[in-house]
Amino acid sequence: MSSFQELPRWPQLSDDDIEAAVAALRSNRLVGLSNSVVEEFESALAAGQGVGHAVAVSTGTAAVHLALHALDVGPGDEVIVPTHTFIGSASPVTYLGARPVFADVTPDTHCLDPDSVKSLITERTKAIVVVHINGCAADMEALAAVGAAAGVPVIEDMAQALGTQIGGRPVGGFGDLACVSLFEQKVITSGGEGGAVLTNNPAYAERVRRLRSHGEGPIEGRPGLIWAHEVGYNYRLTTVQAAVGLSQHARLGAMVEARRNNAARLSERLAGVEGLELPVEPENTVHAFWKYVVRAVPGDGRPPAAEIAATLRSRGVPVLLRYPFPLHQQPAFDGHQDVSLPVAERLSQELLALPSHPALTEGHLDHIADEVRRAFAA
Ligand SMILES: Cc1ncc(COP(=O)(O)O)c(C=O)c1O
Repeated sequence: MSSFQELPRWPQLSDDDIEAAVAALRSNRLVGLSNSVVEEFESALAAGQGVGHAVAVSTGTAAVHLALHALDVGPGDEVIVPTHTFIGSASPVTYLGARPVFADVTPDTHCLDPDSVKSLITERTKAIVVVHINGCAADMEALAAVGAAAGVPVIEDMAQALGTQIGGRPVGGFGDLACVSLFEQKVITSGGEGGAVLTNNPAYAERVRRLRSHGEGPIEGRPGLIWAHEVGYNYRLTTVQAAVGLSQHARLGAMVEARRNNAARLSERLAGVEGLELPVEPENTVHAFWKYVVRAVPGDGRPPAAEIAATLRSRGVPVLLRYPFPLHQQPAFDGHQDVSLPVAERLSQELLALPSHPALTEGHLDHIADEVRRAFAA
């Protein structure tokens, strides 16, 4: 095996997924907010994550936007977000005219550091966005305690963490609201794009539902009529997307198990490689391994992560630098560049994501591990 093209790609849609999409198309009901496959999908998501409510939306970014909006985040507010994450965790803060305040992460889990969050809370802090990065559980106990002590609600960004658990409970119910992404590369997809907001709070669920569809809802005392209670968005998920999502969701457990098995095999094959730090699974948690991320420890004349990544790519192993630019250093967030977040800044030069998705065979994984060993030995 010598080229990237020979490794299977993710996602992989099953015949069931495709038939579900076709059935939704044939139903001639393409957008259905009630009594439809969208509601069925919402029920499955809520039950799967053990929360009271799921509201399906068009993307994970829309989910973050609506969760923040439901908390009335607006101009003058600050929202604490890890700097080591995908931009979709932070950009919705600016959509609402608020300011993202970037926080550092822990060196082992790469998730939000509770001490960094604590040091950044001010009277303007309106929310904390916690990201379960790569499918690794953040320390929700400590982070929720920091939020509670300051009276600040917590949003779990679980875009990468369907399948992640803490203390035997799936993530999604540890904060005030949670955000799912169903983008094509994620643990499951609703056919390319999709997302959901989860919550145990019925008032938040109702607000998100309304905001998802132009802010419109029933008028008290005027049966059969609706109007816009507030200005909302068009962030609906279509029935075709929901049908694919529902079909994929039925295989979520198997897909997470496959990811975990693949991660275990990589860890077994990569154990003991000089200068290579393997991913950790915090005690009492289940890591969904949406990404299998290793650290190239600098020193002893070893090549830096970027060079190792280039070598691996030239040998057909599609390795990614894992967030080579912390958000606070990117031009989109001009004005945050003076902030110093040393752990995330260091990790941005050291982390590599190796392919580990469920479509890879043991043979592929062994080949990947062999190439990684070779690249680290260089
Ligand atoms: C941590 C995180 N938050 C938010 C998002 C945004 O999700 P989407 O791409 O579905 O808009 C993503 C992924 O893409 C993500 O990885």
